Amino acid sequence: MSKFERTSDVTIRDIAARKGGEPVVCLTAYTALVAQLLDRHVDLILVGDSVGTVIHGLPNTIGVTMEMMILHGQAVMRGAPAACVIVDMPFGSYEESKEQAFRNAVRIMQDVGCAGVKLEGGQDMAPTIEFIVKRGIPVMGHVGLLPQSAKLTGYAARGRHRDEWDVIIADGKAVAEAGAFATVIEAVAEELAAKITEEVTNVTIGIGASAQCDGQILVTEDMIGLFTKTPSFVKRYAEWGAAIDEAAANYADEVKSRRFPSAEHTYKMKD
Ligand code: KIV
Repeated sequence: MSKFERTSDVTIRDIAARKGGEPVVCLTAYTALVAQLLDRHVDLILVGDSVGTVIHGLPNTIGVTMEMMILHGQAVMRGAPAACVIVDMPFGSYEESKEQAFRNAVRIMQDVGCAGVKLEGGQDMAPTIEFIVKRGIPVMGHVGLLPQSAKLTGYAARGRHRDEWDVIIADGKAVAEAGAFATVIEAVAEELAAKITEEVTNVTIGIGASAQCDGQILVTEDMIGLFTKTPSFVKRYAEWGAAIDEAAANYADEVKSRRFPSAEHTYKMKD
């Protein structure tokens, strides 16, 4: 058993209680198999809308739909009986009105059976978060770099200049005060992540936002080295891309030379 292995189900309240305590371990998953492999080791699994780029080969997260999030959410729930599973609300499913956001959050909760939803945005989205939370749905916020708005704002890290800080700190505070149990802080300078984490009452989960946050999340496929290129904040804990490449090359070689399948991988007639 890994020393980090968990033995009980993780609830939203357990995550919220980790403010300033033992760091919250989070990873993304989109399939039952990966969820099953992660479930023993993480506190929270995010079915991120990064599913669009990672699994479906989309150029960004704009094309991700409610149907995709629900289907992948259901798969992850089948594989992860213990972790706290949160599902991203896709672009266009919550920005129009509080009512639209609530309706789609309800659909995700009912169809997936997850513990809560995540949506991107700071001060602008705070009234929407409050509306959803007050109606019984746990919400995780997401501030800093917002991939769903990147066509407007770009992908550069935030808060590397002091004059950008006030807006992002206000975003973090607004999301926490609206009732989000946790907030993802994406791609911000360490000093800003520390300031937000100190000033907000909810748990902060960093991705490219330093060890100053209350927890960490990475996209699992980045973490296991499935891509040739990863952002500089990603630590690659395995090199699965290279391993798959080598395995496929060996397989192709053995098929062409008729070394596979050999006798041990071949059915024989019974008497
Ligand atoms: O979609 C996603 O995977 C995310 C994480 C990067 C936080 O939002």
